[in-house]
Amino acid sequence: MGLSHKNLNSTVLIGITGGIAAYKICELIRMFKKNNYNVKVVVTANALNFVTELTLATLSDNKVYSDNFDIKEYKPEHISLCDEADIMVIAPASANTISKLANGICDNLLTSVACAFNKPIVIAPAMNTNMWNNNFVQENLSKLKAFGYYITEPESGFLACGTTGEGRLCSLDTIYNKTLEILEDNKLLKGKKLIITAGGTIEKIDPVRYISNFSSGKMGLALADNAYKMGAEVELISTFEVDRPYVVKQVSSAENMFAEVKNSFNSSDCTIMASAVADYKVAEYSSQKLKKGSEDKIVLELVKNPDILKEISKIKRDNQIVVGFCAESQNLLENANIKIDNKGCDYLIANDISRNDIGFSSEDNEVYIIDKTHNIKHLEKSSKDNIAKQILEYIFE
Ligand SMILES: Cc1cc2nc3c(=O)[nH]c(=O)nc-3n(C[C@H](O)[C@H](O)[C@H](O)COP(=O)(O)O)c2cc1C
Repeated sequence: MGLSHKNLNSTVLIGITGGIAAYKICELIRMFKKNNYNVKVVVTANALNFVTELTLATLSDNKVYSDNFDIKEYKPEHISLCDEADIMVIAPASANTISKLANGICDNLLTSVACAFNKPIVIAPAMNTNMWNNNFVQENLSKLKAFGYYITEPESGFLACGTTGEGRLCSLDTIYNKTLEILEDNKLLKGKKLIITAGGTIEKIDPVRYISNFSSGKMGLALADNAYKMGAEVELISTFEVDRPYVVKQVSSAENMFAEVKNSFNSSDCTIMASAVADYKVAEYSSQKLKKGSEDKIVLELVKNPDILKEISKIKRDNQIVVGFCAESQNLLENANIKIDNKGCDYLIANDISRNDIGFSSEDNEVYIIDKTHNIKHLEKSSKDNIAKQILEYIFE
């Protein structure tokens, strides 16, 4: 379930090409790793003339990607690497690779990944002074700049070819700091506060018994983790204990949860109710353990719990977003469409709990996002982590 402390830092994809400065990138990988970033490395065939795959794999603690056609799973690597990484850093970037990128050429894994990568790309050129001053290279770099690539300009100094001039790879600190600065600036939820609820509420009957449900809280936790990764200030209100780098408030009953949500609601930009809140609680909690009597049948009287989603939707400001979840075992979309009108929230995420390959304790989910105008967006079956990411992107992009 990932309840223990989890590394929620970004993933940096480092692309290494065939330049003599490739050896310096071993230290760059260590800098990211030391600061808890996940690092993946993709190399050109020529890069492996300068550094070994074993060194790169050991330093990054990951497999090194080099072959376009080494497809182990259904998804080609140039696509799965794009999904996983938050930023790509090509260092050193050879004159050859720079020119290929600027012309849309994808004849190896590194250039294919870069071509498909729709997140920021940092290019750190390094080459002999004459190559650097070559008109084609300069024109290709200008094209890349114009299309939004970030270039860390090379420095002047003593070069491996024995000459002194412009073309030496800029300092590793420059590449590292630029990458962090871009990562920070590009976070989708930067400056936003999100409240996310997770888990099934616990409605006590007596000191030893309670009513609850099968909700595992995995979907809510995945939403909170992803919101945090996207730069949001997160408050998770959960029915279970979890160690995370953001605020976690543990609650038990629907009433406790409602009180915590109300407490923080005013200062939030978005509230996502991913918890399974019990509709009813026992009318009268018994402070003493209920004893088994002679009766064959006993009746528990239940009373309605507050409808947290409906209540906060009533008081929300125009600039606040309220998202609910609905789990249905039949007529999923029909019921969800009725529910969003009834609750008054901005979005409703509907999932089908009659399927045992998704939902509740499963690692996967498949959902429909319904908005106030009854527009429906289908998110195909995927890991809860990936579904959470897509939900947040859909709502905030
Ligand atoms: C010893 C050696 C050092 C090289 N250093 C560089 C370099 O620093 N920058 C560069 O652009 N090309 C350099 N090259 C040339 C590239 O390796 C060559 O252009 C190659 O095609 C680049 O392939 P890639 O971009 O797919 O990695 C060097 C070649 C050799 C043999």
